[in-house]
Amino acid sequence: MLIDNHGRRITYLRLAVTDRCNLRCFYCMPEDGLNWLSRSELMTYEEMLRVCTLLVRMGIEKIRITGGEPFVRRDMMKLLTALSKIEGLKELSVTTNGVLTAPYVGQLKSIGVRSVNLSLDTLDAGRFFAITRRDEFSAVMETMQALLQHDMDVKVNAVVMDGKNTQDIIPMVELTKELPVSIRFIEEMPFNGDGHGYSGIAWDHVRILEEIRSAYPNIQKLPDPLYSTAYNYHVPGHLGNVGIIAAYSRTFCGTCNRIRITPDGMLKNCLYDDGVLNIKDLMRAGNTNTAIADTLRDTFNKREIDGWAAERSRAENPGFRESMATIGG
Ligand code: GTP
Ligand code: 5AD
Ligand code: SF4
Repeated sequence: MLIDNHGRRITYLRLAVTDRCNLRCFYCMPEDGLNWLSRSELMTYEEMLRVCTLLVRMGIEKIRITGGEPFVRRDMMKLLTALSKIEGLKELSVTTNGVLTAPYVGQLKSIGVRSVNLSLDTLDAGRFFAITRRDEFSAVMETMQALLQHDMDVKVNAVVMDGKNTQDIIPMVELTKELPVSIRFIEEMPFNGDGHGYSGIAWDHVRILEEIRSAYPNIQKLPDPLYSTAYNYHVPGHLGNVGIIAAYSRTFCGTCNRIRITPDGMLKNCLYDDGVLNIKDLMRAGNTNTAIADTLRDTFNKREIDGWAAERSRAENPGFRESMATIGG
């Protein structure tokens, strides 16, 4: 079992498999994309499998594959299939933008993936284009259908942006009437990759809930699982649920059970640190699993209780350029 220096159990790894993406969501990256990592900077699938196997032996129970967009990396199903066979891993899931995902849904199901988080900020094709700068709305909706047809547990992530998609909040809640999906509204965070002005949050979790309540006054609070990043709600009579993720207000550090690995093999103890250990270099330097496990344990003993506190002032500075795509959310 893995316990950090604040008594928090670490059970959840978020592995970002690429920084590349086939969308250009303006809150995540600039129109021209990022300065992509080269092939040799990326961890290989063999390296990913090795570190994941080691971490599962040490106490990780759940792995979520993120990006960038996981399915732009070649042979993604190969990696997922290998990961799904790790003994002791209880849950393998994927966060995807859904552009390329529809054809893989059957295979995902057959290797045991039960839940997929789909990034979708609007139900309107025009607004989708304005937000993502790509004309792929129908492909994403196809993925949503395919996921539902395969009885997958679907969570839709919608980042709430002032002046961009707040008119989608109510229609997206309405979607839960007929569809058994969980729609999660996320506070926008300052990770847009080009340092374009981010001056605090216009739509925080309180305002998002007020907006939903104005149309659904009878919405009910659900109990939240211990490690949930979302506050969960349900409109009586609806098939699906509604969640609000206070990603910016950050109200969930006390129970944080997650670590992250970036596409270039940096371990992050917190979404907001710069990476605390280069695991790829450790492996490439020929270290044994035992030596790597010791170093990892050491690193987990230096976790901050609230990494966001220091980062917030840094992130609001004009020169801040980190992108969500390099850290995997
Ligand atoms: P599950 O609980 O496994 O469904 O995962 P999740 O909700 O954490 O995953 P997902 O990849 O769907 O991320 C949803 C949103 O939560 C993204 O915007 C993430 O960036 C945000 N998020 C996830 N973990 C953290 C965290 O530790 N801190 C903050 N501030 N935001 C997070
Ligand atoms: N603020 C909040 N959420 C973001 N995501 C990407 N960039 C941001 C941001 N700046 C979300 C995506 C995806 C998840 C992994 O992270 O919508 O669903
Ligand atoms: Fe791609 Fe996700 Fe970033 Fe959008 S938020 S550009 S889908 S990595």
